[in-house]
Amino acid sequence: MRAVDVIIKKRNGNALSREEIEFFINGYVNGDIPDYQASALLMAIFLKGMDSRETADLTLAMVNSGERVDLSAIKGIKVDKHSTGGVGDTTTLIVAPLVAACNVPVAKMSGRGLGHTGGTLDKLESIPGFRVELTRDEFIAAVQAVGLAVISQSKGLVPADKMLYALRDVTGTVPSMPLIASSIMSKKIASGADAIVLDVKTGSGAFMSTVEDSFALAREMVNIGERLGIRTTALVTDMDQPLGMAVGNALEVKEAIEVLRGEITGPLADVSLTLAAYMLLTAGACRDVEEGRSMAEEALASGRGLKKLGDMIRQQGGDPRVLEDTSLLPGARTVIPVKAGQDGYISSMDTEKIGISSLVLGAGRTKKEDPIDPGVGLVMRKRVGDKVSRGDILADFYVNNEAAFPEAADIFRAAVRISAEKPESRPLIFGAVTRDGIKHLGFKP
Ligand code: URA
Ligand code: CA
Repeated sequence: MRAVDVIIKKRNGNALSREEIEFFINGYVNGDIPDYQASALLMAIFLKGMDSRETADLTLAMVNSGERVDLSAIKGIKVDKHSTGGVGDTTTLIVAPLVAACNVPVAKMSGRGLGHTGGTLDKLESIPGFRVELTRDEFIAAVQAVGLAVISQSKGLVPADKMLYALRDVTGTVPSMPLIASSIMSKKIASGADAIVLDVKTGSGAFMSTVEDSFALAREMVNIGERLGIRTTALVTDMDQPLGMAVGNALEVKEAIEVLRGEITGPLADVSLTLAAYMLLTAGACRDVEEGRSMAEEALASGRGLKKLGDMIRQQGGDPRVLEDTSLLPGARTVIPVKAGQDGYISSMDTEKIGISSLVLGAGRTKKEDPIDPGVGLVMRKRVGDKVSRGDILADFYVNNEAAFPEAADIFRAAVRISAEKPESRPLIFGAVTRDGIKHLGFKP
């Protein structure tokens, strides 16, 4: 087999066989196939697409390029959850304990924040003492002991994705449905879960800005999972404004704790309960999503979810007293309000810009190596649709580096649009894609 023939076949719009896909991925990872040929194939895939069978074969070839975590020592159906990335999206910290509290083990590998999106590992590390780097044995022991663990993705998973992503980044081939779907699913499958629930974000802060594209990505990923024998469900949820009110690491941990204490309701709690319900359903722990939802609600109301989060924090070396006293989390020296410049309704928010505003304060990073400040960020006081008067506080900024505040505030003000008309309300959860098809919870795209 020759690499050039595989490129020509895809360039001409034909489907590649499993053997051709394996040959190319293995050859690229081994160094037999150079970057320029891999770039040409990526561009051909970008332009001509891949069908579901090809995309699943590509995903499996990528999984097989590295190690696959073996979680078989943990009893039960292990369920994982993945979000395509958002702002103020602290669902993992709420959902993982709720699901574990329903006796479904959660063995989760998470990532760090990059660009405008936050990362679960950075949030967890704002808890004093918390360790995200566990050995494989410690990880399994932690899940066996308390029913959940959230750790850093091991370095050896899916080397093909690391290489291909770097190439896509510089060849204009990132926004391709089969390439995105295989990239995400290869990492999830290599992490060893038996069941996966995906939270595909849609809107101004998401990878996919249209609802239609978000459903297409959701369907593609469910397809891959089911073809490779992993029960997979995908929700499409709104990211046209931050999910929670807090954007920033310790601030988001505090908000997650408040949800688990039952002190706050709203979109973050709602999406978390729905994700938990689908995780329970996908893991086979309930008959339908309504039953899953009741189980998750009961875990929250009884405080068992909060207790599970405490068990996980203790197990991973963190200080569980943060659950009772969130002032033990890192804070900021100053809190500065940002106010509305005019009367009207909040008509829309540019979620990506709000993420960048928090990043500018020091909560996020532009390069992988950048340090972050866990205590800084912002807490919104208003959401889309709220009425405001000039001078009302839109958000409180938690600041350590005052020199960064003016730019961060300017970005935030530009991101929050105020107009005379009340905007139409938008669904929070657009729908769920399972192997049986699409269930519309919000509206029909
Ligand atoms: N996230 C990933 O992990 N891969 C992509 O290609 C896009 C988003
Ligand atoms: Ca995330």
